Amino acid sequence: MSENVYNPEISHWYDAIMEAGYNPSDHKAAADAIVKILGSRKKVLELGIGTGLLAEQLADVGIELSGFDFSQDMLKRAAVRLGDKVKLYRQDVLNLDLSETYEAAVSQGGVWVATKDGNCLDSHITGYERNLQGLRRVAKHLDDNGLLIINLGPEQRDLTMQLADGAEYSQKVKFVGDNFEKDYFVMKDGKVVAHQHVVYTRFNPEQTARIIDEAGFRKSGIDDSKSFVVYEKK
Ligand SMILES: C[S@@+](CC[C@H](N)C(=O)[O-])C[C@H]1O[C@@H](n2cnc3c(N)ncnc32)[C@H](O)[C@@H]1O
Repeated sequence: MSENVYNPEISHWYDAIMEAGYNPSDHKAAADAIVKILGSRKKVLELGIGTGLLAEQLADVGIELSGFDFSQDMLKRAAVRLGDKVKLYRQDVLNLDLSETYEAAVSQGGVWVATKDGNCLDSHITGYERNLQGLRRVAKHLDDNGLLIINLGPEQRDLTMQLADGAEYSQKVKFVGDNFEKDYFVMKDGKVVAHQHVVYTRFNPEQTARIIDEAGFRKSGIDDSKSFVVYEKK
């Protein structure tokens, strides 16, 4: 199993953090942009579906969606939100093994996130070879010319936000060379009620271009909404 599995406490607070505006591009806008990128494609796999916030929006606009996550706590919440609208799987991308193939794969703050300029990839998985293995597993699950769509994430920085019912979210980001570590905290009534430490790997532009190529993709570019970088299976 990979590292950085979200614990029950942070999974519990995840939706409240998102609803408080963690990611300025909301899930409805993201789903609309994805539909434009997909064109006639309908069968999509979400990489790191989390609690299903994006998935709900994609299913509502008629996307035939499947999604996986390795966090049981996040998946439980997704199952409640999505019912039978989306096929859910508990899997680690490193050993991804599904019986179907898809026309596109989407990661919205999921296993991978791209930097704002679309030139670097940030990953929940450490190490070049392991990321290559994960990306190759994704490529294996895509049809010929299938798309890999990765969101352009917010800048990684320390921040504090008020959540509903008096709780407070804060994050601390520490760069260690190219990689960075993030500590997510939720405080309520003066106590830490959730804490998650996550280590992210950042691939520089050259490494990103190389890993994408070695995994069997070519870059198509940034979408019109400037929210996603799009790759196509070679
Ligand atoms: C920030 S959440 C994204 C949620 C969702 N994409 C959305 O926008 O609503 C990131 C998710 O990626 C999952 N994840 C990270 N690494 C993974 C891996 N190696 N395999 C499967 N899921 C992974 C985490 O468990 C987490 O639920």
